[in-house]
Amino acid sequence: MSLKRIVENAVDKSTTSRTPNESRQITVPQVTSWKKRDEKIAMVTAYDYPTAILVDRAGIEVVLVGDSLANVILGQKGTVGVTMDEMIHHARAVRRGIERALLIGDMPFLSYQASKEEAIRNAGRFLKEAGTDAIKLEGGRTIAATVRGIVEAGIPVMGHIGLTPQSASKLGGYRVQGKDAGSAQDLIRDATALESAGVFSIVLECVPDRVSERITSAVSVPTIGIGAGPSCDGQVLVLHDLLGLTVGDSPRFVKRYADLSEEILKALRAYRADVASGTFPGREHSFTILDREFKKIPPPGIQKPKV
Ligand code: KIV
Repeated sequence: MSLKRIVENAVDKSTTSRTPNESRQITVPQVTSWKKRDEKIAMVTAYDYPTAILVDRAGIEVVLVGDSLANVILGQKGTVGVTMDEMIHHARAVRRGIERALLIGDMPFLSYQASKEEAIRNAGRFLKEAGTDAIKLEGGRTIAATVRGIVEAGIPVMGHIGLTPQSASKLGGYRVQGKDAGSAQDLIRDATALESAGVFSIVLECVPDRVSERITSAVSVPTIGIGAGPSCDGQVLVLHDLLGLTVGDSPRFVKRYADLSEEILKALRAYRADVASGTFPGREHSFTILDREFKKIPPPGIQKPKV
């Protein structure tokens, strides 16, 4: 085999390898290359160290510290209240648990809308202070110049169009977007504008399946769907939704892969019952002292005479 072919093979392997057991860190070019190879991308959110370890161990390719932190973890009503500092705090914890997946920090509301300079600075904070590999932000054509500025600063950007929860108030609530021909075409324009601005991937949230299909074939970067049908190049779900840990009803697009709320309730009730009955702690959970040491301790009420 020629030296050129050996090098080509090595490069090809390094940009496409997908084995979940492969310990090498996934890169941005690798994620983009999977679209050409028709290999689907699995992405989930994570907000803390222990779940970060689990999603990484499961072979999930992309992990997002989503601004859904606001509602999923902090108990807020929507996503607009979460701050840059809170996002960084959680992203740092997730970073410590991730060895292989590509890690993305989600830009919170008002961290990138006011000016391009502020956007670049805040995007940079995710890489400098939390060690994420890339950032994500919401918006299409209106945010394209900002995206270009961030990418030119050397920071990989994932776009997010369709239902953009930070603008839920303007959109009139959490509604499917692109349901008529005009708004569907707007979404296609948004996606191509983001691609031209340099994004490496685009989240499509709550978009009709055939519109997602059109967007997916209109751009060369992978689309990652959430409530956007099966044609997307990858899928993303909020971790707590897929694990059945979300309080209240989940949106229709969620598939629950476990019912952890029920498991956790069972465990907590059993613990409480064991404490009430004195079954916990048992001998196996307790520590001992040698008899010869214990005998030296006067029983309660018997004081040693003072010398
Ligand atoms: O914040 C988030 O969880 C998200 C995903 C749903 C894409 O933006």
